[in-house]
Amino acid sequence: MFEEGKIPNDQHSFGGSWTCIKLEALEKYLAAFNTALSKQSFTRIYIDGFAGTGRCDITMNGEKTSVDGSARRALAVNPPFNKFCFIELDAKKMAALKSLQAEYPEKSIDIIQDDANAALKEICKNYNWKNTRAVLFLDPYGLHVEWSTLEAIAATKAIDVWYLFPYSGLYRQTAKNANALDADKENSITRILGTDEWRKEFYKPQRQADLFGDESGDEREANHHDMLNYVSKRLKGLFPAVTGPKILFQAGDSKKPSGAPLFALYFAASNPSPKAFGLATKIAKDVLNAL
Ligand SMILES: C[S@@+](CC[C@H](N)C(=O)[O-])C[C@H]1O[C@@H](n2cnc3c(N)ncnc32)[C@H](O)[C@@H]1O
Repeated sequence: MFEEGKIPNDQHSFGGSWTCIKLEALEKYLAAFNTALSKQSFTRIYIDGFAGTGRCDITMNGEKTSVDGSARRALAVNPPFNKFCFIELDAKKMAALKSLQAEYPEKSIDIIQDDANAALKEICKNYNWKNTRAVLFLDPYGLHVEWSTLEAIAATKAIDVWYLFPYSGLYRQTAKNANALDADKENSITRILGTDEWRKEFYKPQRQADLFGDESGDEREANHHDMLNYVSKRLKGLFPAVTGPKILFQAGDSKKPSGAPLFALYFAASNPSPKAFGLATKIAKDVLNAL
C-alpha cells in the first residue's frame, strides 16, 4: 500500500496509565452507543477533536508500551459508525491519519488539519443534526478547549461528549497568590471556563496585610477539589446531563491510583430529551463504574 521506506510514522509518545483508562471508557461507550442507536435511522458520526496518530506510545509504571489510540479504536468498533471526522493540528501527524484512510477504504473518514475549536464549530454549524447523532472525544494535552466550542456542541442537541478535562493544567495555572497570575494565565482559564467569575470563586482578599502594611494581593482559597467542583457546576449549567468526573491519576491503575491527579474525565450529553440523555448517562455511568 505504501512505497517501501515511506510507511507513515504513527509513533506518538505521550501519556501513562490514565491513557489506557480513558481509551477503555471511550471504546466501551462507542460500542454501546452504536448498539443502542442501531435500530434507528440516524447517521452516526465519531468525531475526534484531538485525534493524534491512531497509536499511543505510553510509559506505564516505568515500562514502555504501545496501544491503539482513539481513532483506531473508533474505526474498529462494532456496530460501526457511518462516518468519522479526525481533527488534528499537527502537520506531522497527518500522514499517520491518512494511512488509516488507506487501511479502511470502505469507511467514510474526513481528516481535518486545523485547531479543534475552529474545526468543531464548523462541524456543529454544517451538519444536519436532526438526522445525525455523534460521539465527540475531546482529548487535549492542556487548556485547549474553549468554552465557546462547548457551547456550539451543546447547541447541536445531538452530540455526546467525552471530555478529558485538564485538571492539573487548571490548578497549575492558579497560583496561590493572585499577584503571580499574569494576563495570559487568566485568559486561558477564562477561555476554558467561559467566564472570569472563577477569579472571585477561587481567590479572596488576604485577611492580613504584610509586615509593611501593604496589601499583598488576593490569595487562592479554593483547593483542587473546589476548583473541580466549579468546573462541574459550569458544565452542568451548559449540558442537560453530565456524568463524572472520574479522576485520572499519574500512576497506578483505576482501582489503585497513585501520584498526582492529572485529568478529570467527564461525559456530557447535549440531547435535552430525558429519554435520550437518560440512556446515554446510564451507559456512561456503567462504563465509568466498570473501569
Ligand atoms: C493527547 S493527544 C490525543 C491522543 C488521541 N486522542 C489518541 O488517543 O491517540 C492530543 C493531540 O492533540 C493535538 N493538538 C494539540 N493542540 C491541538 C489543537 N488546538 N487542535 C487540534 N489538535 C491539537 C496534538 O498534536 C496531539 O496529537
